[in-house]
Amino acid sequence: MVKSIGISLFGIAAPHALSFLARRRYPNVTFGYCAHANYCVFEGPNWANKGSALGHVRMGRGSYCAKECRISHCTIGRFCSIGAEVQIGWFTHPVKHVSTYPGFYSKVKHPLHYHTLDQFVEEPDVIMGNDVWIGDRAVIKSGVKIGDGAVIGAGALVTKDAESYSIMGGVPAKLIRKRFSDDIIKKLLALQWWNWTDEQLREMAPYFSDPQELFHRWNVWKNRPNQYFERAGVMG
Ligand SMILES: CC(C)(COP(=O)(O)OP(=O)(O)OC[C@H]1O[C@@H](n2cnc3c(N)ncnc32)[C@H](O)[C@@H]1OP(=O)(O)O)[C@@H](O)C(=O)NCCC(=O)NCCS
Repeated sequence: MVKSIGISLFGIAAPHALSFLARRRYPNVTFGYCAHANYCVFEGPNWANKGSALGHVRMGRGSYCAKECRISHCTIGRFCSIGAEVQIGWFTHPVKHVSTYPGFYSKVKHPLHYHTLDQFVEEPDVIMGNDVWIGDRAVIKSGVKIGDGAVIGAGALVTKDAESYSIMGGVPAKLIRKRFSDDIIKKLLALQWWNWTDEQLREMAPYFSDPQELFHRWNVWKNRPNQYFERAGVMG
């Protein structure tokens, strides 16, 4: 009785405590109710909304995850949007062992355990580029690479790499279509707008709805006269 009350209280207090520690450890991240992170590196500013748990994650500038995500062993680029209840990177059980039950390969205590050594299978990290959008409830297998600008549809199970600017969906996820023509994709990948400064992004944001217009405006902006004069040593 006392033990079960203790376990219940611990269950209630632990997520709050983890969230409190995460807020102190990562001041450049906004954590929602009971969201937490451990062994992570955040470029900031980032968000992890209500109930999300992140472990061994590197997250680039501006990227965020919505509520109740489970993200582990993953590198996430800049300006990525991760929907609710997304699962990225998973643990695995050794399918070639006699049994997949953890009590036979892990020293972590399970209801039954007969083993004193850890024989975990190390899973490779998920590598996600920049400007990736992951729809609600998508699941992404360990080791998958998701290219810049890719979109993963709601509910997708991603088991293979997603090319840059592809839209993937389904179980298992397949290519639905590319977001843009090959020519535009090539130019966007060369542009790497996600590495621009805040000033550059503010200037160019009005043209983000049209890639061709953005390419044009960027060329005008980067070749604007004051830069020319600065380069030529005429000003200042
Ligand atoms: C993937 C997605 C972006 C595609 O949107 P779209 O370009 O408007 O796609 P369409 O509705 O034109 O559908 C195109 C095809 O893809 C299929 N499709 C669309 N979304 C799909 C998904 N999530 N999984 C599997 N197939 C999907 C459609 O059935 C259609 O197939 P068909 O050509 O055989 O008829 C969108 O459906 C999606 O899943 N968005 C995520 C929404 C979300 O989770 N929001 C909350 C987080 S911010």
